[in-house]
Amino acid sequence: MCGIVGYIGKEDAASFLLQSLKRLEYRGYDSAGIAVIERGRLVRVRRAGKVRDLEAALGDTPLAATVGIGHTRWATHGAPTDENAHPHVDCNGRIAVIHNGIIENHAPLRRKLADEGHVFSSDTDTEVLAHLIESLDDGNLLEAVRRAVAQAEGAFAVAVLSQDHPDRIIVAKRGSPLVVGRGDDASFISSDVPALLGRASEVQFLADGEFGEVTRDGYHLFALDGRPVQGTPHRVSMDPVAIQKGGYKHFMQKEIHEQPRSVGETIREKTEPTGAGLSLPGVERVPTDFDHVYFVACGTAYHAAKVAEYLWEDALPVPAHAVIASEFRLRNPHITPRTLVVAVSQSGETIDTLMAVRLARSRGAHVLALVNSEQSAIERESHGAVYTRAGVEIGVAATKTFTAQIAALGLLGMALAERRGGIPAPGTGDALRELALLPGRIVEALRVEERVKTLAEKLRRASDVLFLARGVLYPIALEGALKLKEISYIHAEGYPAGEMKHGPIALIDEDTPVLMLAARGPAYDKLLSNMEEVKARKGFVVAVSDAPDDPNLVRLADEVLPVPASTGIALPILFTIPLQLLAYYVAVARGTDVDQPRNLAKTVTVE
Ligand code: AGP
Repeated sequence: MCGIVGYIGKEDAASFLLQSLKRLEYRGYDSAGIAVIERGRLVRVRRAGKVRDLEAALGDTPLAATVGIGHTRWATHGAPTDENAHPHVDCNGRIAVIHNGIIENHAPLRRKLADEGHVFSSDTDTEVLAHLIESLDDGNLLEAVRRAVAQAEGAFAVAVLSQDHPDRIIVAKRGSPLVVGRGDDASFISSDVPALLGRASEVQFLADGEFGEVTRDGYHLFALDGRPVQGTPHRVSMDPVAIQKGGYKHFMQKEIHEQPRSVGETIREKTEPTGAGLSLPGVERVPTDFDHVYFVACGTAYHAAKVAEYLWEDALPVPAHAVIASEFRLRNPHITPRTLVVAVSQSGETIDTLMAVRLARSRGAHVLALVNSEQSAIERESHGAVYTRAGVEIGVAATKTFTAQIAALGLLGMALAERRGGIPAPGTGDALRELALLPGRIVEALRVEERVKTLAEKLRRASDVLFLARGVLYPIALEGALKLKEISYIHAEGYPAGEMKHGPIALIDEDTPVLMLAARGPAYDKLLSNMEEVKARKGFVVAVSDAPDDPNLVRLADEVLPVPASTGIALPILFTIPLQLLAYYVAVARGTDVDQPRNLAKTVTVE
């Protein structure tokens, strides 16, 4: 959600900004803009739409500038128009501001500034910052920005460029992510490391309350009280190849196919080199005496947490509840010093999850982050962290991070059971042996792709699709439905199959495809009975099953998508694969923007 980039060096700033904004497109946005200083003058170009529209507006004549800031905006205050696109400027067009987050007290600030004579030209909360900085600027831009953000309420990351100070970019952060970086002969800012891959050799994440100035020679950061901050620079280790499509049509397709590796890496890091035992860095600090667990998460991460409910209730005999993070604060969760809270988030920046973490900590829970990116806000505010090793995920629809979350959560549950019991739980060896085979089984599961592609042609005109499952596959039904609606814009619902006759059965007719996840095991026969009920109402049944040759199933299903047989942690992961492929190919058949679906953002940093 909103992307920030900045460059100060010796090369063409505008080209760098455009290239970096393209790398941040995955975060989700609806307008883009840049501001640079050319021959002592601040030049600003903004466009509603995509970065390519901004590129077209810039034309073929390069701007002679070596310093600039750029932004992709996801509209919160004001429609996605040229006028509301960032950067925003002060009355004289000398100071440009880009901003990620929300200035909650923008209305009183705007009134006060307007009374003082400032003239506004957008509906955004951001523009107040430009005018506020203008009103406080007495020649010391850094100090003016510090005083301005001190008056602002809410969560934000800000970058400021002034034509009176062409040798620096000023930055400030509270809540929303911001990194500064150094490379050969240049310094950078960004809201996310991928924008700087191949350019910055080291980066530093700003902590909340920090602000600073970025010059051609490096950066200087300060705490809110003005004290210089040393901080810890991180070497940039991600490979720029990770943010290229590598021959696939979309990032989502590439990321679906990366799952043998992303799940494999996530497992490998948490098991001993022999594969015979568990080894989870970070788990040793979790107190062993917790008597109940809350998982807090949003969207797809919430579905992974719901899978963990089932896996943990098996592995650890303690009550475990997955709660949608934005709801967590609106109830009165039972939190004591013996509560373990696990915050699940691929980005580590989701504001709802972060707020749930803060609440849990303030009430004395032990909070563990399960995140895909190190140094994220959720990790920093938790007591400890466990990582998924999915690599950077560009497609807005989460795929490889979801399956990596299930793997990591499953292993975390087993490791905690081992720590509490003092010895490996019975069956740990078998479970780990099965997990060692999982990457190969994912490769096998992906072989269904051509069949899914053909099926997608049949489903592309559906207006409603139901996903039904029982037990640990119920959250996979939820995830299958979410994936389909996110990228194909077809309405879809996931339900526990046992609930069908309590309501959703009313939806079933010959135009309603019903995806039924039928895994061998205790719920299998009941699922087949549900299939009979759907068929009796002329529903179109797609069975996703690890018993694809069972004559009873074949008789009832209009289509069967096979899944390799498995148990435990592997089962929900393998059943996810055909559903991801289905969502992908239905979206492709409908011609939607698969990697950047409408209205969605990859990282949701507003409540
Ligand atoms: C997944 O496809 C979605 N884009 C979305 O539901 C996402 O999972 C959710 O916003 C949580 O994000 P996080 O994992 O970064 O916290």
